[in-house]
Amino acid sequence: MRRRFTVLIGIAIVVIAGVVAPAGSAQARPHRSKVADLVAQLTLDEKISLLHGATDPAGQGQSGYLPGVPRLGIPELRLTDGAAGIRMAKPALAMPAPVALASAFDPALARQYGAAIGRDGRALGMDVLLGPTLNTIRVPYNGRNFETYSEDQLLTARTVAADITGIQSQGMIATAKHFAVNNQETDRDTVNVNVGEQALHEIELPGFAAAVKAGAGAIMCAYNQVNGAPSCGNTELLQTVLREQLHFTGWVMSDWSATHSTDSITKGLDQEMPDGTYLGDALKKAVQDGTIPMSAVDQSVTRILTVLDRFKLLGPHPRPRPTRDPAGGAAVAQRVAEQGAVLLRNTGSTLPLRGRDASDIAVIGPTAQTPKVSGGGSGKGHPAYAAPPLDAIRTRAHGSVTYSPGGELFGRPIPSAALDPALPMSSDGTATLPLYTGYSGTIDVPEDGDYRISASVADDSLVALYVDDRSAVGGAFGFGPAELPVHLTKGSHQLGIYPLLGPDPMPVKLGWVTLAATRSLIAQAVTAASHARTAVVFAYDDETEGLDRPSLSLAGYQDELITRVAKANPNTVVVLNTGSAITMPWLSSVRSVLDMWYPGQEGAAATAALLFGDAAPGGRLSQTFPASEQATPVGGNPSRYPGVNGQETYSEGIDVGYRWYDAYHVAPLFPFGFGLTYTSFAYNGLSVRAGAGGGLDVSVSVRNTGSRAGAAVPQVYVGTSSRVTEPQAVRALAGFDKVTLRPGESRRVHIRIDPAQLSYWDVGAHAYRLGGGARTI
Ligand code: BGC
Repeated sequence: MRRRFTVLIGIAIVVIAGVVAPAGSAQARPHRSKVADLVAQLTLDEKISLLHGATDPAGQGQSGYLPGVPRLGIPELRLTDGAAGIRMAKPALAMPAPVALASAFDPALARQYGAAIGRDGRALGMDVLLGPTLNTIRVPYNGRNFETYSEDQLLTARTVAADITGIQSQGMIATAKHFAVNNQETDRDTVNVNVGEQALHEIELPGFAAAVKAGAGAIMCAYNQVNGAPSCGNTELLQTVLREQLHFTGWVMSDWSATHSTDSITKGLDQEMPDGTYLGDALKKAVQDGTIPMSAVDQSVTRILTVLDRFKLLGPHPRPRPTRDPAGGAAVAQRVAEQGAVLLRNTGSTLPLRGRDASDIAVIGPTAQTPKVSGGGSGKGHPAYAAPPLDAIRTRAHGSVTYSPGGELFGRPIPSAALDPALPMSSDGTATLPLYTGYSGTIDVPEDGDYRISASVADDSLVALYVDDRSAVGGAFGFGPAELPVHLTKGSHQLGIYPLLGPDPMPVKLGWVTLAATRSLIAQAVTAASHARTAVVFAYDDETEGLDRPSLSLAGYQDELITRVAKANPNTVVVLNTGSAITMPWLSSVRSVLDMWYPGQEGAAATAALLFGDAAPGGRLSQTFPASEQATPVGGNPSRYPGVNGQETYSEGIDVGYRWYDAYHVAPLFPFGFGLTYTSFAYNGLSVRAGAGGGLDVSVSVRNTGSRAGAAVPQVYVGTSSRVTEPQAVRALAGFDKVTLRPGESRRVHIRIDPAQLSYWDVGAHAYRLGGGARTI
C-alpha cells in the first residue's frame, strides 16, 4: 500500500547554485605560487602549445595529445575517450554502458566503475579521460543515450559524482562532457538549442554542478549552440554559469573541432581540440597585435597547470602510474552488468530458468553469438576479448542448447551485379580500393525493406561508408566495421566507400543484410523455438555517436522475429542489448524481458548468471520507456526534436522524462525507476522529519518478502510546493538507496533529502529558492 506524507517546509531562501567546496576537497585552494612561477617562465609559444591539441609523435590511437613543456617539467598529456572504457589502439577494459551504471542506482558501484576505468587508462599511458558523458536523456532517439546516464538530474548527479571520484582516485583527470544540452546527434554541429533558464538549471546543470563539486579537472564544451552562441564560445554558459555560479576552477576544452573563433578564449574556452586552428598561430598573432590580451592566455594556462599540479603531474617526479588490473576490472564490469540489468517483465516467474526450462533451450539472435559489447563512436568499447553469451549459456545449461541466428549483423557479400559501376570483388566480398577516392556509385536493392550495409577493414585502417545521406566510419581503434542500418526502397541508391587511413590500395570487405536472407533466418529460428522448452531471443538496437536512431523499434526485423518466435513457443524470454528506450509491440506475448543494455566485456557471464539465477537483476530504469513513438515528450513536435530550421526548442521546459508523463497523464510502457527482480519487497513505517540545514530525513522499513536474496531500491519522490509559481514537477526524485536483503530480512532505510531537492530555480532572482509550504513525500 502506498502512503503519502505531507511535510511542511520553511520558506527560508537558500542560494545553492554556487556550490562551495568543503575544505580539503578536491577543489581546495590551488598552489598559486608554483603555478604562477611556471606561467612567468613560459614563452608565448610555450603557453600557446598548452592551449591546443597536437599530433602525438608516439600516437597510440588515442583522441588527443598535448606536448607539454619538458624544460619546465610540464608533462605531455594523452587524452583518451572512455566513458565506458579506454578507447585507443590497444585493447582495454570494456565496462557496461554508462546507462547500465546509472540503472544500478548505486553510487558506491559507480565509484568502482570510475576507478576501474581510471586505473586502466593511467596504466595504459593515458592522462586525461574524455568522459564521463552526462547530458540529460531528453530525446529517446539520441544516438548517445547509451553513453550517458539518465533523464533525471538527481540520479545523474549522484552517479557522475561517484564516477568522477573513482576515475580521479587513480590520478586520471576526468572531463565532464558535453557542456551543455547536447541531447541529440542530428545536426549536432550546427543546431541551436533554445532552452529557458529554469530547464537549464533544474534539468541539465545539476549533473555538471555535481561534477564540479566532485572536482572534475576538465569540462568539454559541446558541438551545439546554446541560446544563439556556440557552446565553446558562450560567455553566458562558460563564464556566468560555469565559473560564477558553479565555481568551476578546472579547464574547459572544446569538443573535437567545436571551436569556432580565436576570441573564444575571452569567452571562457581554455583549450582547443584536437588541433590549433583558432587557438594556435591565430591566437599568437592576436596576442601580438593586442586583439587578445596576454592575461586571457595566462588565465587559461593557469587553469590547466593548476589541475596538473593538483594531480601531482608537474615536476621531475610526477605521480607514478598504476599497473593494469584486468581481473579486478572484469569483476567490476560483471557486477555493474548484473546490478544495472533491468528485469522488465517476468510472467509466472519464468526467470531465473529452472528445471527443464533451463536444460532445453533455443538461443536465437545474432548478438547471442557476436556479443554487443557497447554502442558506437567515442563511447565504443575495445576489449581484448568478449565471450559470446551463447557459450556462457551452453556452459551453464547442462542440457540441449540449440542456436539459430534469426538475423545477421554483417550479412553476405554484396553481389558485384548490384553495383554500378561494377566493382571487382573476391568471393568473400572483398574489393581493393584506392585511398581517399575509393568507390562511388550506386547500389541496386531488390525490394523495399530494412537493409544493413557494412564495410570492414583491418584493425590499422579506417574506412568511411555512405548510403544516400547516411554515413558511418569503421576500422581502427576498435571501431569495428562501418555499418549502416538503412530502410531502402526498391531500386538504386547512392553508395560511397572511402578508405581514409591505411594501405593504398586497401582491401575492404563489403556485406549486406537483405530481406530475403532475413526471412529464411527467421523461419529457421521459429522452427528451432518450436522444438525447445524455452526460447531465449537476444535482441539489439544500433546506437552510435553521430546518428540518432531512426525509430524506437529494434533494428531490422527483430520485432517480427520475436513475435513469430513467441507464437511458436510461449515460453519465450527476450534479452535486450539496447542502449535506450525501445518500443515492444510483442511485449504481451513473451514471458520475460531482461534489459542488459550494452553490457561490456563481461556481458556473457553476467547474462548467464542472471538467466540461471546465480545473480539477481539489480537495475531500475534510469529513463522512461514510452508506450509508442507518438507518446513521448518530443513525439509529433519537430521544434522540440529534431528542430526546425536549425532551432531545437525546449518548449516542454522542465517536463523532461518522467516529469512530462506525469504532467500530461501519459501512461508509459515502463516508468522511470521501474524494475523487477527475483524476489519481492514490502515497504512500511514511512517517517519524514525535518533534517539539518533545511533538508528532510526520510526513513522506511524494507522487508524481503520472497524466497531469494535481492536488491530493493527505495526511491523518495517529492511533490509540488503551493508557494511556487514557476512550473514544477508533479513529483521529482529526491533521494534513493539500494539495499540487498536475504529472504525474510528487514531493514530500516534512512534517506536524507538535501534542500537542493526541495528547491526550484527562481528565474527572476537567477537563483535557487526553497519551495516552502506543504509538500507530498
Ligand atoms: C565526441 C567527444 C569525444 C571526441 C574525441 C567527439 O566527436 O563528441 O565526446 O570525446 O570526439 O574523440
